[in-house]
Amino acid sequence: MQSQQPTTVVVLGTGGTIAGTAARADDNVGYRAAQLGVDALVDTLRGALPDGVTLETEQVAQLNSKDMTHAVWAALAHRVAAHLARAEVAGIVVTHGTDTLEETACFLQRLLAPAKPVVLTCAMRPATSLLADGPQNLRDAITVAAHAGARGVVAVVAGAVHGALDVRKAHTYRLDAFASGDAGPIGRVEEGRLRRLRDWPAGTALGLAVLGDDAARWPRVEIVASHAGADDGVVDALVVQGVDGLVVAATGGGSVHEALEAALVRAQDTGVAVLRASRVGAGPLLPRDDDVLPAASGLTPAQARVELLLQLLARRAAP
Ligand code: SIN
Repeated sequence: MQSQQPTTVVVLGTGGTIAGTAARADDNVGYRAAQLGVDALVDTLRGALPDGVTLETEQVAQLNSKDMTHAVWAALAHRVAAHLARAEVAGIVVTHGTDTLEETACFLQRLLAPAKPVVLTCAMRPATSLLADGPQNLRDAITVAAHAGARGVVAVVAGAVHGALDVRKAHTYRLDAFASGDAGPIGRVEEGRLRRLRDWPAGTALGLAVLGDDAARWPRVEIVASHAGADDGVVDALVVQGVDGLVVAATGGGSVHEALEAALVRAQDTGVAVLRASRVGAGPLLPRDDDVLPAASGLTPAQARVELLLQLLARRAAP
């Protein structure tokens, strides 16, 4: 007997501008995010769904993603994993705010490295805008989530498919606000069809178990920035407060102000985990003979924070 291709796509709502409303249809800045439920977003697509796809919806959270919490991340990861385990589910779509989308994408990929697609999507204009971008992004995301052979966590925005560890918000206002740095997009969705350009995200899943059962007890990981005039004060203060991990948003190819670097080395010597990421937004970290701090090449500082957080959780969960 021929095996049936799964056709159900589950859309998980978390809020964002894609679910936002404004008092005026021409106001794409002074609106309120996270006002409409995920069912209302899906309703805009009636009659315009990819052939043969059945949708299910679930509201996991309703927030402006600038206010994302570890508890919501934990809940989202558990719901994504539960739906992925269902044979009839082809893939998941997560509607999300643009502001921390790159962090959630990184979190889900490193945690789950799913064999089915998990597609984050968002919008730069609220749902009530004159020319809202959300419905097209949602439609494209469903196309990718239902695509046979798709896998891993990706973001679908403005027709581009970005890998979870490459994606970053690169513009504050344009509809095409996301980029993949040097890696470039995984593919493009054109007229309801995916044109793939390179491989899906891959990797080893850290596994849900590392999260434990209380997000309030996750390690504290902070980001500090290297900049002109930087000194050791912020790092020393965070160490006194008992910080567990520090990501430094480094200049250029990975350099850190000497005063800040000295403080980070001292922190590292006391057992604080330290990771460097470039604040530039594209390009690798460039290795140097005198590097003293480990590097997270290719990740934004916010994604490097997710990486360090998960590494610390995994270390804590190890037998
Ligand atoms: C948010 O990130 O939730 C608000 C901003 C946006 O979605 O563009």
